[in-house]
Amino acid sequence: MALSIVVAGLAPAAGCDTPAAPKEVAIDVAPAAPASAAESPSDEVSPRLLRRFQPLAAVAAPATPAEAAKVALGRKLFHDKSLSSDGSIACSSCHDLARFGADGRATSLGVGGQVGARNAPTVLNAGAQFRMFWDGRAATLEEQAKGPVLNPGEMGMPDGETVAKRLASSAEYRTLFARAFPDMEKPVTFDNYAIAIAAFERTLVTRGRWDAFLEGDSSALTAEEKRGLKTFLNAGCMVCHTGKMLGGSMYERVGVVEPWPNQTDPGRYAVTKDEGDRMMFKVPTLRNIAETAPYFHDGSAKTLDDAVRMMGKHQLGLELTPEEVSAIVVWLTSLTGRLPEPPRETAL
Ligand code: HEC
Ligand code: HEC
Repeated sequence: MALSIVVAGLAPAAGCDTPAAPKEVAIDVAPAAPASAAESPSDEVSPRLLRRFQPLAAVAAPATPAEAAKVALGRKLFHDKSLSSDGSIACSSCHDLARFGADGRATSLGVGGQVGARNAPTVLNAGAQFRMFWDGRAATLEEQAKGPVLNPGEMGMPDGETVAKRLASSAEYRTLFARAFPDMEKPVTFDNYAIAIAAFERTLVTRGRWDAFLEGDSSALTAEEKRGLKTFLNAGCMVCHTGKMLGGSMYERVGVVEPWPNQTDPGRYAVTKDEGDRMMFKVPTLRNIAETAPYFHDGSAKTLDDAVRMMGKHQLGLELTPEEVSAIVVWLTSLTGRLPEPPRETAL
């Protein structure tokens, strides 16, 4: 019996991760044959299935000195705690680049030690997604960047104008904004703050062995990792975790086969008030997933093994064996990439 899954906005046959116009496509996923899933006789992975995934493009060098200056300014803003109401929190507090752009907590801590409601997703490669936030409520990195600084539970600044005023009171920032936006008479604005942060975030691209593998270097993955990839494909995980981000290209219901244990956060329903969006979340990226525990919007899975097991059960109706879970986890570790070296300040 085939298991029918409704996937919003994706025509799976095309293997394409560009967000299509919202439409519902019913597709049949052949149930995995658990006994054979982890131990297929052939070593090679089907090229047809591999076409669902694409490598990340390397970051291009900034085209102009102003572009380079935007990235440098964005990097500074991203790490600046003085842009929070009590001077204690920067973007990097919850998106620590040394922790692969996340914070290692179930849910984040904002100004005054406030505990947030959701797990901080990684900012690495975030710009390659179709929407921002677990519920997709921001369309772009620019729009997203204006959120946390004004969020009372995160950085707690009263309004964009206050942020711009604080920036304009610093001679260093006045210089940096003037370099980044050379054609503007008054470059220190809240809009430009967001534009610079987004320009910096777009450089946070982590290519790795997975990209080399997709580009044709079959030896970039070990035999064990390839077995794990096949287990992932046989189980049907790539129906949702697809494209260059292995996620970040569609919304899906969490608990599509078996209801999700924690129903506190209704996901996209909170944005649209449409009953059909209850428990719909953006399918998260699996890039660097081995480094960004804990997992899920509520941080409820402490380990990757737990997360994979829960996905099998709630998204696909599969009781994955411990061998299948660890095979998938071994492959998932091959999705860890590296940030490019930041340019030297003198190069700007
Ligand atoms: C207090 C912790 C905290 C701070 C500070 C914070 N973030 Fe976040 N960030 C989060 C959480 C939690 C989410 C997910 C929230 C949601 O989906 O509703 C998030 C989501 C994001 C996303 C979307 C990622 C995705 O995959 O959808 C980006 C990009 C991002 N933050 C960038 C920033 C930037 C830039 C700043 C500084 C201006 C910042 N964050 C400050 C906790 C934080
Ligand atoms: C029907 C769509 C769908 C399928 C199939 C699916 N997932 Fe997911 N996956 C999601 C959604 C939606 C989330 C976000 C859930 C949440 O946070 O509440 C998610 C989250 C995850 C996470 C946690 C990511 C993070 O950053 O917290 C991992 C790991 C994961 N999936 C792996 C898998 C694996 C492995 C499989 C196959 C066994 C799989 N998924 C099958 C939709 C799916």
